[in-house]
Amino acid sequence: MAGDPIPAYLHEYLDSLVPPRPAEMQAMETYAKEVDFPIVGPASGYMCYQIARMIGARRIFELGSGYGYSTAWFARAVQEHGGGVVHHVVWDEDLSRRARDHLGALGFAEIVKYHVGEAVQELRETPGPFDLIFNDINKDGYPASLPVIAEKLRPGGVLIIDNMIWHGRIFDTNDHDANTEGVREFTRRITTDPGWIATLVPLRDGLIVAYKK
Ligand SMILES: C[S@@+](CC[C@H](N)C(=O)[O-])C[C@H]1O[C@@H](n2cnc3c(N)ncnc32)[C@H](O)[C@@H]1O
Repeated sequence: MAGDPIPAYLHEYLDSLVPPRPAEMQAMETYAKEVDFPIVGPASGYMCYQIARMIGARRIFELGSGYGYSTAWFARAVQEHGGGVVHHVVWDEDLSRRARDHLGALGFAEIVKYHVGEAVQELRETPGPFDLIFNDINKDGYPASLPVIAEKLRPGGVLIIDNMIWHGRIFDTNDHDANTEGVREFTRRITTDPGWIATLVPLRDGLIVAYKK
């Protein structure tokens, strides 16, 4: 089976339950629709914010941040905890610049630290530990990112990783694309490693939420 296994009406319903966002975030959502840019979207973004609030996260590292939509959700949680840092990492200078504009307008200039470069390498070079790590990079890079994440996340910290349903492609037994295999392999590793408690939440394109023991 290929194609999105979640019906459009369910996506729309889940997004409709998210409280209204500031105009700047709504503009980021509209832009993503216009140019088909893969942001996490309202329901997944709100769950990321909720988890960050639930664990009192103040040190967050994000891999693959685009123009900062998911970053905005994490920065809001950190700001509500009295401050801290969210690392925004993308390898594209233009996206990084646009993220600075959006996140500055949202009042997060003091919280977000910007890196332009390959995300796993940036994580390797950034001193931890982190309370929460969010991974949204190229999917063929997921398996190799896991040992670096495991080293940088504090015990009791949370890893959230996006696109774990991969638009239904993981169910297509003929699909051996490197990204599809990356999602499969990462899922296998994190759900069988006794160092993690991990659940795949079928929200939007699937988020694995994993607790590091
Ligand atoms: C799916 S989009 C991210 C969207 C963002 N997390 C959000 O929801 O708003 C992934 C972004 O990360 C970049 N990216 C992908 N793999 C990367 C890597 N290994 N290192 C740095 N940036 C990467 C892509 O170019 C893209 O801008």
